[in-house]
Amino acid sequence: MGFVLAAAGSAVGLGNVWRFPYVTGENGGGAFLLIYLGIVFTIGVSVLVAELIIGRSTQLDPAGAFRKLAGGAWPLAGYMSIFTAFIILSFYCVIAGWTLAYTVKSLTGSVLNPDTEQAGSLFNAFITDPFEPVLYTALFLSITVFVALGGIANGIERAARVLMPALFAILLVLAARSITLDGAAEGITFFLEPDFSKVTWATFLAALGQAFFSLSLGMGAMITYGSYMNRHDDIAGSALTVTLLDALVAFLAGLVILPAVFAFGATPSAGPGLTFITLPSIFAQMPFGHVFSALFFALLAIAALTSSVALLEVVIAYFVDENGANRKKVATIAGAAVFVLAVPASLSLGVMSGFTIGGNVLFDAMDYVTNNITLPLGGLLVALLLGWVLRHKGEEEFLDGSTLAPALLGAWRFVIRYAAPVAITLILINGVGIL
Ligand code: PFF
Repeated sequence: MGFVLAAAGSAVGLGNVWRFPYVTGENGGGAFLLIYLGIVFTIGVSVLVAELIIGRSTQLDPAGAFRKLAGGAWPLAGYMSIFTAFIILSFYCVIAGWTLAYTVKSLTGSVLNPDTEQAGSLFNAFITDPFEPVLYTALFLSITVFVALGGIANGIERAARVLMPALFAILLVLAARSITLDGAAEGITFFLEPDFSKVTWATFLAALGQAFFSLSLGMGAMITYGSYMNRHDDIAGSALTVTLLDALVAFLAGLVILPAVFAFGATPSAGPGLTFITLPSIFAQMPFGHVFSALFFALLAIAALTSSVALLEVVIAYFVDENGANRKKVATIAGAAVFVLAVPASLSLGVMSGFTIGGNVLFDAMDYVTNNITLPLGGLLVALLLGWVLRHKGEEEFLDGSTLAPALLGAWRFVIRYAAPVAITLILINGVGIL
């Protein structure tokens, strides 16, 4: 139970509430949702199982685990994980900083606005400011480091047991409000009715990247968490529970944001600001909107915290397990290093927007490279390791400790050996446009 909660805490975060709705909006709605869920419940859950196996069987960080299981060049996959965790954390804490800021601003009332256009201007003014968002980023990152230092790790986990169901409850209330807004029907159709005419390889790549990001896969986080599992903990059961919860929260967030987007006449493809410009307008139309809004953003910040701690843990576990470094020292230095990259990431949305990499501002480039390239690549390597290098040993591990596993073995073997490697390779090559 403790493990499932920690893994669910890592999975459920900004990826579900901030990223999923806007990526769905950018990729045409219903068809994307269908492709996303298809990937989550085949490739996603199978790779999650594989990462937990790698972690539980070696009790090591990703690089150490790859070395122990396969040797050769495999630890490179582990290094890629650590690089990815570092980059993701650097933009993740910027967005998490926004949620902290919006908690405060909800109380003072300055963000609640029934007009989405005005809510959008307020949001833009905030994120392009050179100081304010950076301060909130620093605050969030400091809390992350503090928790990772062991200060209140247990406390956070215990608190999350109560707070995550609370976040879920608020999302339910918000969904009820959103789908009953005047003009919401168009948004519900957009979200739930697939229109395959706009599906391209890029749609598949976006869904694959989002699935990995949301389930915390392809970058060693679940390997690291798996290494804290006990020998006979149920891997298949835990993986299914975490996947279901994660998908449910994302679905619910979509049902909150997208109907409101249409009801308020905003554009679904507005990008990373979508959640932040839509929610304040929904709250503005609810009794006790300020209180709900503050509560919601505070809970979202805590969901982000249980995720950012997992990201930082990947970096810490590597230096502690591989180099015998001091945990406190590593956490502090890593936190500072993340901040050094987080500042330009935040500024790239404002004063530094003139500086681009391949046509993207730094923030977008960091998001693109991790979600669309290194995460899928990491997932591919994990599938190849389990499906082809380890084979029977992996299957024994799969069965160990789970009453559910025997019935699922055939399906898991098929996905991890054939379906996942082929699909990820095809999607990567075509989606990125390598050929
Ligand atoms: N899964 C998290 C989310 O959806 O917000 C993001 C994340 C956390 C990715 C931890 C990777 C990770 F290791």
